[in-house]
Amino acid sequence: MRHLMNPLDFTVEELDSLFDLANDIEKNPSKYAHACEGKKLATCFYEPSTRTRLSFEAAMLNLGGQVIGFSDAGSSSASKGESVSDTIRVISCFADICAMRHPKEGAPMVAASRSGIPVINAGDGGHQHPTQTLTDLLTIRSLKGRLGRFTVGLCGDLKFGRTVHSLINALVRYPDIHFIFISPPELKVPDYITDMLKEMGISYEEVIRLEECMPKLDLLYITRVQRERFFNEEDYVRLKDFYILNKAKMALAKDDMLVLHPLPRVNEISVEVDDDPRAVYFKQVQYGVYVRMALILTLLEIRV
Ligand code: CP
Repeated sequence: MRHLMNPLDFTVEELDSLFDLANDIEKNPSKYAHACEGKKLATCFYEPSTRTRLSFEAAMLNLGGQVIGFSDAGSSSASKGESVSDTIRVISCFADICAMRHPKEGAPMVAASRSGIPVINAGDGGHQHPTQTLTDLLTIRSLKGRLGRFTVGLCGDLKFGRTVHSLINALVRYPDIHFIFISPPELKVPDYITDMLKEMGISYEEVIRLEECMPKLDLLYITRVQRERFFNEEDYVRLKDFYILNKAKMALAKDDMLVLHPLPRVNEISVEVDDDPRAVYFKQVQYGVYVRMALILTLLEIRV
């Protein structure tokens, strides 16, 4: 039985197969419409979500399966003190596969160690968000035709943004990636990540101003400032509007640069950018459904 805790749980070759499957689902959705008949997905979300939970649920429904779950800890027996370990043993009696989001780093890993069914990490604290990374990689591969040879700008909250940490982990396995980390000093990418890049000999630079690196970028991945992970409101308010991507900044970028964002957006991308063909963050959401369908089929070992 396999779980997904980290994008690195799949080899590059396995990811290629997963993305091929996701692209086939995109082209031939009716072929997969009954693939999960009789199967249930449990979504156990101890933290708020719109995209991840609903796209998992849409994915299972598109495959002909059914969905159970809870969308906040307060409506589950976690509010009475039940442990994640006990909860997953119970859920294993009800469902065939579980997607879990939790504010504590490592909680889905604890669940996986006690589970009778595959567990998917749907985001754990500031740590990892592997299915967002699968979504990001599928979007890039589908729109650019490759996953290597890019200058990638990561902008915003690089300290607390788990989508950023997961994406860096995943991209280092592809050739000729150069990272540009764009953040205020308080929200720099953690040292363990820059240490890893140094050890692997992967080039990166750290800058504060978005404008100065826009012309170099092939991909710009923007994230919101993660209010829920700040220790005080004053710091959040000071940093929340540090970056706002607008038409004037987009004018500095390459014609074929892509702008990605895991969403939700707050103010960091002006709505005037939404109609720019390089802005692909809503396409990303659609790719998220295809890749979660492919992931469910793969972890349940269902071949169509
Ligand atoms: N991208 C993402 O994780 O969005 P949600 O928090 O809405 O699930």
